[in-house]
Amino acid sequence: MTDDSSDDAAKTPPTGKGPAQSQAMWGGRFSEKPAELMQAINVSIGFDRRLAMQDLAGSRAHAAMLRKAGVISSQDEAAIQEGLRQVEAEVAAGTFPYREEFEDIHMNVEARLGELIGPAAGRLHTARSRNDQVALDFRMWVRDACDRTVEQLKALQRALLAKAEAHAATLMPGFTHLQPAQPVTFGHHLMAYVEMFGRDGGRFADARARMNESPLGAAALAGSPFPIDRHQTAEALGFARPTANSLDSVADRDFALEALGAGTICAIHLSRLAEEIVIWMTPQFGFVRLSDAFTTGSSIMPQKRNPDAAELVRAKAGRLLGAFSQLAVVMKGLPLTYAKDMQEDKQPAFEAFDALELSLKAMAGVVADLEPDTERMAAAAGAGFSTATDLADWLVREQGVAFREAHHITGAAVKRAEALGCDLATLPLSELQALHPGLTEKVYAVLTPEASVASRRSYGGTAPDQVRAQIERWKEILR
Ligand code: ARG
Repeated sequence: MTDDSSDDAAKTPPTGKGPAQSQAMWGGRFSEKPAELMQAINVSIGFDRRLAMQDLAGSRAHAAMLRKAGVISSQDEAAIQEGLRQVEAEVAAGTFPYREEFEDIHMNVEARLGELIGPAAGRLHTARSRNDQVALDFRMWVRDACDRTVEQLKALQRALLAKAEAHAATLMPGFTHLQPAQPVTFGHHLMAYVEMFGRDGGRFADARARMNESPLGAAALAGSPFPIDRHQTAEALGFARPTANSLDSVADRDFALEALGAGTICAIHLSRLAEEIVIWMTPQFGFVRLSDAFTTGSSIMPQKRNPDAAELVRAKAGRLLGAFSQLAVVMKGLPLTYAKDMQEDKQPAFEAFDALELSLKAMAGVVADLEPDTERMAAAAGAGFSTATDLADWLVREQGVAFREAHHITGAAVKRAEALGCDLATLPLSELQALHPGLTEKVYAVLTPEASVASRRSYGGTAPDQVRAQIERWKEILR
C-alpha cells in the first residue's frame, strides 16, 4: 500500500510551484513563480535563439530612434549600444548564456544587457512590446531566408545551365505518361527545370517585397503614446516602409506562410527532378551515371549504387508541405491580435528552410556530378516509334493530307512496323506506299530522332539552336 502510493507519487508529473518569488521581466503582479510545467510549455529559447542577431539589430535601431525622439538620453543610448555590441560579440563567439529562466530570446538579450550595463538596460523596452519585437525579428529572419534561397536557386540553375550547354544536342526520349513520346534533347529537358527554379526564385522575391514592411513600433497592439519615428527604424532595418496598421502588424504571419508556400512549390519541383534522376539511374533506363560522391552502396548487395541524395531530396518535399500546413493550422481562426499560439510559428520555418537549403545544395551537387550515357539515350530516343508524329506531319506538309487522316495512316504504319519487328525508319517503302501512295523515299529524312529534334524550331522548342538560345538568355539573367 505504501509502495503503491509512493509509486503514484513518482508518476505524477512535476506540477510544484516554485518559491514565492516573481518572474523577473513580467512578474510585477505575480507573487509566485510559474509551475514547472508552465515553464516547460512556455519557454522558447531552445529554438528562438536563432533570432538573436535579428533581435539585436532591431534593438539597436530602436534605441537610436528613442534617443533621436528624445525619449531616452544620449548617455543611456550610448550605454545600450555598447552593451548590445558586447552581447552581439558573445552571440557570435558562441559564449552568450542562453537561459531558460528568461523564457525567450527577447528577454534573454535584455537580461544579459542588464548584467552588462546596469539600469540603463531597463530603458530599451520603452515604446516596444515583445509582440512587435517578435514580429520584427521573425520577419527579418524569413526575409534573410528568402534572400539566401534565391541565391541557392541561382547556384542550382547555374549547374543545370552548364549541363544543358554541354548537352544542348544530346538526344533523349521525351515522355508523356512516362511513355516515349517524341525525341528531345537532354539540354532541353534540363532547361525545363531552369524555368521552374526561375519562377521559384520569383516567388521568393515577390514574397520578400510584400513582407518588407517594419512592424516595429506597433508595440503591444495599439501603437505607442511616445513620439516614436517608425519610418526611421523601418529605414534603418532595410524595410521599404513601416506597416500601416498596428493590429495587423502583431497579428499576422502571412509573410512566413507565403515564404513556406513558395518553399513548398520549390521542394515539389526539386522532388520531380530527383525522381527523374532516380529513374534515369536504374539499370533498366541507364540514362545517367552518378559518381561515388553522390551515391551510396548497400551493406549486403555489393553490386548496388544507390541515388540516396536524390531520394532524400525527393522526400524533403514532405517537410516543406508539413511546415506550411503546421503554420497554416496555427494561424487558422486566431482572433486578433497576438496570441501565444504564434510562438509556434518559428520551428516550422526554421526546419523548412534548413531542409530546403540542404536540398538545393545537394541537388546542385548531383546535377554537376551526373554524366549521361549519350549512346543509350540516343538509342532510346529513336525507339518506341518516337518519330510517328514526324511521319504524320510530313504527310500534312508534303501531300496536303488532313492531320486527322495523316494520324490514321501513321497509326497503320506503326502497326505494320510492329508486326514486322522493325522501326518506322526501317519500314520498307513498299509498305509505306501501300498505306498512302504519296509517301516517297524523301520521308525517311524526317524519321530519325536527329531530324525530328532539329525540325522543332518553334520558339521554346527542342531544336538544339532553340535550346542554345534559351541557355544564352538565362546566362544573361544569371550574370
Ligand atoms: N516568445 C514569444 C513568441 O515567440 C514572444 C512574444 C511574447 N508576447 C507575449 N505577449 N507573451 O511569440
